[in-house]
Amino acid sequence: MNVPNIIIAIDGYSSTGKSTFAKLLARKLGFLYLDSGALYRGVTLFAQEDRLISKLNIVDPALKTELQGLRLRFGEDGRLFMGDRCIEKQIRTMEVSSQVSPIAAVPYVREWVDEQLHEYGRKGRIVMDGRDIGTAVFPNAQLKIFMTASEQVRAQRRYDELKAKGEEPLLEEVVRNLRERDYIDSHRETAPLRRADDAFELDNSEMGFSEELAWAQGVIQGKFGIL
Ligand code: DC
Repeated sequence: MNVPNIIIAIDGYSSTGKSTFAKLLARKLGFLYLDSGALYRGVTLFAQEDRLISKLNIVDPALKTELQGLRLRFGEDGRLFMGDRCIEKQIRTMEVSSQVSPIAAVPYVREWVDEQLHEYGRKGRIVMDGRDIGTAVFPNAQLKIFMTASEQVRAQRRYDELKAKGEEPLLEEVVRNLRERDYIDSHRETAPLRRADDAFELDNSEMGFSEELAWAQGVIQGKFGIL
């Protein structure tokens, strides 16, 4: 498909399969894929390692100045680096997942992440996924998709993902973490998770990847009149 130089914003709840779908779509269109959640996870790991967040999720205000020295960047293959260190594996653990939402609710953290995202989006031809891409980061994105799936399907996906990485999660704990993140993400004051009015909704509870891609292709063809 010969798609114009656009930004595609994909938002939705945790574990709706946003990143897999966004990656596949980016590959199909020859676009760059960017995972905004990875940056929030990178900041969370940084805060944990520097003891700037307590067990009770109290964020030390020193994080604001410490952030100025933080260098997060995506490698060629999309993996996240902190300085020269690849932190892709560390940012996907339950430990990071359990504190990422409170970190992502801090306004100056969002500003810091948004600056990085705007830089990556400058040239267009990008698929970016997250919670506020179509509503706050790129409100003028030419195509917005909002993803949902049933809680049961999402919890099972997250559980399988953690298992595959060698963790021993409890399904109840995974469900609790999902609910907690959904709640914090959609109730925070700054850029809460919500569907943009002009977003197309994709419920993939009962869809496979090829159906998702066919759906996206249909939406793109309809919206941009491309065959
Ligand atoms: O997509 P993810 O699970 O890796 O995202 C991790 C957390 O980061 C999520 O709980 C909320 C936050 N996030 C956000 O607030 N805004 C974004 N654009 C992306 C992620």
